[in-house]
Amino acid sequence: MIEIKNLTKSFGDKKITRGLDLKINNNDFLAIIGRSGEGKSVLLKQIIGLIKPDAGEIIIDGQNISELTKIELQEVYKKCGYVFQFAALLDSLNVFENIGITLLENDYPPDQVMPEVIKRLKSVGLSEDVLYKYPAELSGGMKKRVGLARTLMLSPQILIYDEPTTGLDPITVKLIHELIKKTHEDLNATTIVISHDIEIFKYAKTVAMLHEGKIIYTGPTENIWDCQNPYIYQFIRGLEEGPITKVY
Ligand SMILES: Nc1ncnc2c1ncn2[C@@H]1O[C@H](COP(=O)(O)OP(=O)(O)OP(=O)(O)O)[C@@H](O)[C@H]1O
Ligand SMILES: [Mg+2]
Repeated sequence: MIEIKNLTKSFGDKKITRGLDLKINNNDFLAIIGRSGEGKSVLLKQIIGLIKPDAGEIIIDGQNISELTKIELQEVYKKCGYVFQFAALLDSLNVFENIGITLLENDYPPDQVMPEVIKRLKSVGLSEDVLYKYPAELSGGMKKRVGLARTLMLSPQILIYDEPTTGLDPITVKLIHELIKKTHEDLNATTIVISHDIEIFKYAKTVAMLHEGKIIYTGPTENIWDCQNPYIYQFIRGLEEGPITKVY
């Protein structure tokens, strides 16, 4: 389980995370939604240790990560896979190298790297044809798939995706969402998807809404449609901000 308590982070005098609390159960499929610039990526980066919070606690499987040594922390983060907002492939490496590097870094026998990479590519719906292509030669959807394949190499118990579908066409969005769901089920991994696209509601079990540096709603996805909070009501229906004019 991941437990976040009173998490606080500012950049200069700009408060981004403002005393945020959130509990994420094992094997949940959680969507964290919120408008652009609300601090979703900053929240994720704090969870995975890329940004150090100013205050608060992040407890992963009973371990408060701010109290761990570097080595203990590495053990915790071995459980986590992170698919970055912009795929974050290494431009000077081809697909095979981008994916295989994870295995080599983790002392995998070199002769078994290629079959494993091909297996992972297939699991994300890509063929061997892309093995020697460079990121610049791939479409946005293909890059996201390669990014996912790379993350899946180490079979993480916690899988975190930052905006996995931004900038993709509606059909590819659906395919990527289905892939995330299938991966969640196959690995039985705790899955966290950051998104401002409410399409994710069709797949996630739980939803948490980030607003003004806090989680203002968390609950089963189907219940959010009944939520009376004006901000949430309007966000999920894509309405302009302002007083609710619709009576339902
Ligand atoms: N390293 C940083 N240094 C200074 N400010 C930062 C840093 N990272 C993020 N910010 C600021 O924090 C705020 C939240 O950014 P963040 O990237 O978390 O938004 P987001 O909710 O992920 O938005 P989007 O949906 O567009 O990805 C922004 O105002 C951003 O400029
Ligand atoms: Mg972001």
